[in-house]
Amino acid sequence: MKVLAVYNIKGGVGKTSTAVNLAWYASSQGQRVLLWDLDPQGASTYCLQVKPGKRPDRLLRGKVDAENIVKPTLYDNLDLLPSDFSMRHADLLLHGMKKSQQQLQKILSPLSRDYDLVIMDCPPGFTLLSEAIFHAADMLIVPTLPSVLSLRMLKQVIDFKKEHSIGKLRIRAFLNMVDRRKKLHLHILGQRHRIGKQMMQACIPYASAVEQMAELRQPLPEFNRLAPAAMAYGVLWAEIWDAIPGGLKLPCTPE
Ligand SMILES: Nc1ncnc2c1ncn2[C@@H]1O[C@H](COP(=O)(O)OP(=O)(O)O)[C@@H](O)[C@H]1O
Ligand SMILES: [Mg+2]
Repeated sequence: MKVLAVYNIKGGVGKTSTAVNLAWYASSQGQRVLLWDLDPQGASTYCLQVKPGKRPDRLLRGKVDAENIVKPTLYDNLDLLPSDFSMRHADLLLHGMKKSQQQLQKILSPLSRDYDLVIMDCPPGFTLLSEAIFHAADMLIVPTLPSVLSLRMLKQVIDFKKEHSIGKLRIRAFLNMVDRRKKLHLHILGQRHRIGKQMMQACIPYASAVEQMAELRQPLPEFNRLAPAAMAYGVLWAEIWDAIPGGLKLPCTPE
């Protein structure tokens, strides 16, 4: 089982949209996917039309096992660990725990037979919960806006990883909300290779189709598979697939 965390210090950069769309692509290819909504805003829970049930924070408190909280979604091979406002104290909870950095790994380990892939939809911030996420994840996927400050933040995350030698964690970023009519966006697009292997080739255009996801409460490719942004998420998924440390097993092909 591989663990991807869609993470950024900032809110509103496309973490939830990305987590939901990647989960859709992976599950539609036959991977058994668990999307873990860790944000108290519960946006991916909402987007997938799942009712969170009673106090999802009990999972983080260690009061119940993940199998008691997990919910099916409307899509084959895609389950959800939901979130709601009760998760707003996640950081406080971790502060009170011994070995808090390992808490997420501990919660996930009994699920390793049931799922091929876990995708975490992370809350914004750089907190104790973020550090626990870094320890549980094989790969951080960082949606990054084409702006100077966003690129600076990405560098901070890359440096943090180096300084704290979080061994297995791989970082991969991509540009989101790219508007090719803007000079600065075009400039950053052209120069993005200078960031290094952490910056992927795939990028997602600014598109109102992405905004419609919350309105229709569906992953984008579910209601508009041929939209340029939907196809861009498909390309992004292919690039991530190639970069997953140790790789993912190939999905079963139907007879
Ligand atoms: N590529 C995009 N084009 C246009 N709007 C986008 C794009 N990606 C995200 N959005 C919109 O930006 C807002 C924040 O996105 P969201 O995925 O919720 O970000 P986060 O989880 O980082 O807060 C939402 O209204 C979403 O529809
Ligand atoms: Mg979000």
